[in-house]
Amino acid sequence: MGPLLRGWRERALLTQEQLAERAGLNVRTVRRLEAGGPRRPRTASIVMLATALGLDGAERATLSAVARGHPAPAGRDDPAAVGSPPVIAPRQLPADVSALAGRRPELAIVEGHRSGNTVPVVCVSGMAGVGKTALAVHAAHRLAPEYPDGQLFVNLHGHAPDTAPVEPDAALARLLRTLGVPGEHIPWHLDDRAALYRSVLAGRKVLIVLDDAADEGQIHPLLPAGRECRVIVTSRRRLSGPGDARSLSLNVLPVTDAVALFARVAGRGRIAGAPADILAEVVRRCGLLPLAIRIAAARLRAHPAWSVRHLLDRLAGDRLAELAAGRHSVAAALDLSYERLPAEPRQAYRLLGAYVRADFGLHAAAALLGTTTIEARRLLDQLLDAQLLQERAPGRYRLHDLVSDHASALGAATHGGQLLRPLTS
Ligand SMILES: Nc1ncnc2c1ncn2[C@@H]1O[C@H](COP(=O)(O)OP(=O)(O)OP(=O)(O)O)[C@@H](O)[C@H]1O
Ligand SMILES: [Mg+2]
Repeated sequence: MGPLLRGWRERALLTQEQLAERAGLNVRTVRRLEAGGPRRPRTASIVMLATALGLDGAERATLSAVARGHPAPAGRDDPAAVGSPPVIAPRQLPADVSALAGRRPELAIVEGHRSGNTVPVVCVSGMAGVGKTALAVHAAHRLAPEYPDGQLFVNLHGHAPDTAPVEPDAALARLLRTLGVPGEHIPWHLDDRAALYRSVLAGRKVLIVLDDAADEGQIHPLLPAGRECRVIVTSRRRLSGPGDARSLSLNVLPVTDAVALFARVAGRGRIAGAPADILAEVVRRCGLLPLAIRIAAARLRAHPAWSVRHLLDRLAGDRLAELAAGRHSVAAALDLSYERLPAEPRQAYRLLGAYVRADFGLHAAAALLGTTTIEARRLLDQLLDAQLLQERAPGRYRLHDLVSDHASALGAATHGGQLLRPLTS
């Protein structure tokens, strides 16, 4: 029972605490089961564990059999056996976007980066929904033929709803199994896992995409050492990566590419006859942000009665309310960036949203935040790191249009239009 449970938990990238929380169990119960404790678990606990682990039918059957004291059948239901020889080169990249709009210069940077004797690493950062994952996955598909030993894709859940960022040791356990290391040979300590990972990758040509990283600490153990591999990291935070890493800050799309993306998602037929200036205005109202453009175009497509002009009129109202469809929402994506901030920069963000509409300088920010320029710069830096603020020129800041709407809605909701308490007294 113990190794089986542990293998499934690590495959799901969960810590013991996270599994316990998901399954509604005490963490001591999870620890005891993984340690192969003597008492048989209750059937209800087994059902909750199976659901929390996302087990399929056959795996559920194995779990209940083992829980009743029967031996675990060898084979695909035994996670320790997953990845045992024969090892096939992993091909984990998710599907590419059907046609990437624009991004030629950025692709050239991601694909062209070289770095002497060490592993080439490119860190792509940018605001929520700007297209970091789309760019990284597209570049990785193009680069794949140069990396015949495999392409690995790890979602690190740096900014995922209801899921904490993946712990590096759990990510390493999964990567090692994917690379053919049997579960029972995976060491317990993080450093040992990272060292084994580097050993396994030494001399192999493997491309690694680390998507949605929370911070530097999370990616560091997942970097191989040799120049035969290549790593592409995406993150909403500005990451510098290791010494030779190339940082690429992804901006919103140029208008022409934004219109091309809108047209492709909405369907050429849906936009036939719409004047070019109206189309350009629609994508500008979407802040030229790919996520917003896709949602707006999908909504037009889903409402045959709407014209492009009608969509534009709707976007002139509460944009963030319009830019939500199904599980995709610009506001929800920005919420995740905001929620990762400490209390002080959150308050600064709400204040800026409530009172600032254009570019502003450091002194104006300090006056608004009721603090010194040194303290204001520290707070603005935190917002810059979280990609909730842009620095257009040294010392000149602005909020992206959609970010400004988001911050101002939060400011109004929190403070109800009253005068705000200064950040520091
Ligand atoms: N250049 C592009 N061409 C076509 N579609 C794009 C482009 N950029 C982004 N998209 C699409 O826009 C949506 C948002 O992009 P993506 O998920 O890559 O953003 P992200 O920056 O990774 O967001 P997050 O910070 O939430 O991870 C996706 O549906 C993606 O396929
Ligand atoms: Mg992403």
